[in-house]
Amino acid sequence: MGLRILAGTANRPLADAIARALRTEPVPGELERFPDGELRPNVGPVRGDDVYLVQPTGPPVSDHLIELLLLADACRRGGAGRITAVVPYFGYARQDRRGRAGEAVGSRVVADALCGSGAHRLIVVDPHTTALEAMCGIPTEMLTAVPVLARALAPVPDGAVVVAPDLGAAKLAEHYASLLRLPVAVVRKTRLTGSAVQAEEIAGDIADRPAVIVDDMISTGATIEAAVRVVLAHGGAPDVVVAATHGLLVGAAASRLGSLAVRHVLTTDSLAVDQASMPALRVVSVAPLLADAIGRLHRDQPLGDLLIRA
Ligand code: R5P
Repeated sequence: MGLRILAGTANRPLADAIARALRTEPVPGELERFPDGELRPNVGPVRGDDVYLVQPTGPPVSDHLIELLLLADACRRGGAGRITAVVPYFGYARQDRRGRAGEAVGSRVVADALCGSGAHRLIVVDPHTTALEAMCGIPTEMLTAVPVLARALAPVPDGAVVVAPDLGAAKLAEHYASLLRLPVAVVRKTRLTGSAVQAEEIAGDIADRPAVIVDDMISTGATIEAAVRVVLAHGGAPDVVVAATHGLLVGAAASRLGSLAVRHVLTTDSLAVDQASMPALRVVSVAPLLADAIGRLHRDQPLGDLLIRA
């Protein structure tokens, strides 16, 4: 089967960089938008190909998701030999359980839709929940960008501590901590609304220590803002860096983070990020990671060290 990198519209520079790393040409999927808002993609000839469909489902999440589903269906109907959805940022992953009566489990609905669209396999990077693998009816490869980000963070100042801004990020923080050989502290956070959180306590020794705050994603910036405040309120050194795999940076996130006493905010190009939106923002690429994974899968080789640690 021939290897084909098919780019949706969500992050064409990332698809281009992946294709370059694999020494192939990306095929941009054409996208027609009807006056009523319906999307109509066209993938061109894919018969018999091993297709890797690059489409993170960041904002506008629902448009990018529908485009992904339609692209996968177009590949299936076009006779692709194998279809792998490469969705480095997987939207709706935060809706992995019902927080209150009357809610849906959004990540399950999206996973089912993706299976129904004809994708044979899914690749994600640092998904919000590793339960995604169990929710998906197709093989799901969960890569991690933590080694890439940890390399970009080094050298960290003496006495630094890795801070998880909530309990959900503790496992991720442990991975950073083991690579950077640092201790871990964990903030106790309560989410009030989609854009407001409350955090006052921190478990771990933070006094006079520079903090490396890590998370899977930054959306409105509320979580990071609260973590920075807690760290400083508990005597942390005023030398804070932030690392998060996915920089959604919605709404006022850039100005919110820009106003904090943070040396820099490190993220990846899993989503199309406007680096000019925040002077402190540094972006490292996950294209080599994704290209490595795609190359191995195409050759039917194991992903080993590229995967999230169990
Ligand atoms: C939530 O548990 C996630 O891991 C992130 O901490 C959260 O989604 C970030 O969102 P925001 O930037 O809006 O606080």
